[in-house]
Order: sequence, then structure tokens, then C-alpha cells
Amino acid sequence: MKKNIVALILSPRSSGNCEILTKEICRHVSEEHDLTLVRLTAKEIKPCKGCYACLMGGGCPLDDDFMEVAEAMANSDAVIIATPTYFIGANGVLKVFLDRCLQLFSAKFSLRGKPVLNLVTAGIKGEAGYSEMMLNSFSLILGMKIKASEVFYGALPGEVFYENESQLKRAADLGAKLFSDKERSFAEWACPLCGSDVIQLLGKKQIQCVVCRNYGEIVTDGDSLKLEVTINPDNIFFTEEQAGRHGLWLQGMKSRFMKLRGKLAKLTGAYADEGEWL
Ligand SMILES: Cc1cc2nc3c(=O)[nH]c(=O)nc-3n(C[C@H](O)[C@H](O)[C@H](O)COP(=O)(O)O)c2cc1C
Repeated sequence: MKKNIVALILSPRSSGNCEILTKEICRHVSEEHDLTLVRLTAKEIKPCKGCYACLMGGGCPLDDDFMEVAEAMANSDAVIIATPTYFIGANGVLKVFLDRCLQLFSAKFSLRGKPVLNLVTAGIKGEAGYSEMMLNSFSLILGMKIKASEVFYGALPGEVFYENESQLKRAADLGAKLFSDKERSFAEWACPLCGSDVIQLLGKKQIQCVVCRNYGEIVTDGDSLKLEVTINPDNIFFTEEQAGRHGLWLQGMKSRFMKLRGKLAKLTGAYADEGEWL
């Protein structure tokens, strides 16, 4: 059956690197498919109000394009997310979109298990910063199955493939990976659970993976370094069970709020008239 690929393009530049990279990758997907492109920066995605109405059965009070995009992703066979690096991180619209995904905890559909390719473009070698990490944590929080995650370099629109055979070749390889059954392989020094090579040092040999939030240790043997990381049961997003537990915790906050709201209102009221809002 014909597949449907949905690509979130986080660049506002028409025919920019994110867009042509995505299209080139799809030329190498051997399965027959349709490609639906979403320029997320041109969609109206309002920031989450933090009201939790979505978790209490009330639905999200914001009226915009969020649900159209989320449903398109959920109805697809695979997703591609391509972001330019902006000041060493992904385009901020990605984070605004992710925050709105809180409502997926109580939606009738989910993105769990959906294959995804995460792509970053950056103008300067070594300056992609935490963009890749942002994309991968986005995908893991939503339970998606990361098939690959890569950074491509090119500053001007189109430069990602201008006289750059090796990036063209990498794009072709990614196309072959999207629907492949092969598991993603990680560098020896990366987190064995999620593949991230960004860790938080907790003192001694203890570390926490910044992307999947699991704990572990650094193990060295001569010149080689590897991470031993195990699933932390209190981790809030990594497995379906943990995400479900987190959803229940969030809902439990409602009764806690009802119990405490008089006292909290007294506390916050004492700050109400301070300062001037711009
Ligand atoms: C606001 C802004 C900030 C940027 N910051 C970085 C950066 O921190 N590191 C980097 O390597 N490139 C940076 N770039 C360059 C873009 O990441 C690069 O040109 C990318 O290929 C753009 O992709 P696009 O053509 O799909 O828009 C920045 C570009 C803009 C517009």
C-alpha cells in the first residue's frame, strides 16, 4: 500500500536547505509514497497556556492549526522533521509545537511508535549546538521511533547539496532507512538507550542522559569511553507505561489544586499588584 510521509519543515525559507534535504531524502525512499510538507513556521501555533484543560476532558481552548498538523502526523506512516539551527538550537516553533502536545496525553490518537527522521541544517561546521538534541527529545517525548538523526551543513539556501557529494550520499542513505526494519545503531560512547551523546555530569562517574533522562555511569577502558545507562522507572516519558503514569500524575494535580487553591490564592495574591506590565 502507498505510504504517506509527513514532513515538518521548521525553516521559513522557501526552497531552503531543510526543504530540499527532505525532498532529496524522499527521492530515495523505495516504497511508493506521497509526501505531505508542512511549513510549521507558516502555521498558526499558539503557545500553550498551561491551563491543563486538555487533561481534564475540556479540550484545548486555543483555536489554531495545531490539531490539523498533529492529526496529519498521526495519520502518516512516517514523519520527517527538518530544522535549521538558529543560535545553536532548533527553530523555536518546534518547542512551541511540542508544548501544545501536552493535549496528546488525553487525545484519541498518539504518535507512539511512529518512525521519524530527525534532520538539522547548520551554516557552520560544529555550530549546530543543541539542535539535534532538541529534535531527539521532541521525538522521544512523543514516543516516536527515531530511525536516524543527522546534521547537514550549508549556509545559503541550497548550499547543503552545492558541490557536496558526501551530503547527497548521506541523504540517499537516510531515504533507505525510513521504512527499513533495521534498528538504529549508536556510537559506543552514546547513551545506549536513546543514542544521544549529550550527558549531564552528576559528580563521580554518575551521569544523566540529557535527552532520555535516564541515569548511568561513565565507564573507561584505556582510551575508550562508554556509557552504561539503565531505564529509570521514574523517568517521565521514555516508555509507554511511564508516559501513562505521567499523564495520571498530571490529572492528579487537579484534585490537589482544588484542595490547595484557597491557600495558594492567598500566597500569590500578596504579589498581585507589584511591578508594571509592558
Ligand atoms: C537567526 C539565525 C541564526 C542562525 N544561527 C546559526 C547557528 O547558531 N549555527 C549555525 O551553524 N548556523 C546558524 N544559522 C544558519 C542556518 O542554520 C543555516 O543557514 C541553515 O542551512 C538554514 O536552513 P534553511 O535554508 O532550511 O533555512 C542561523 C541562521 C539564522 C537565520
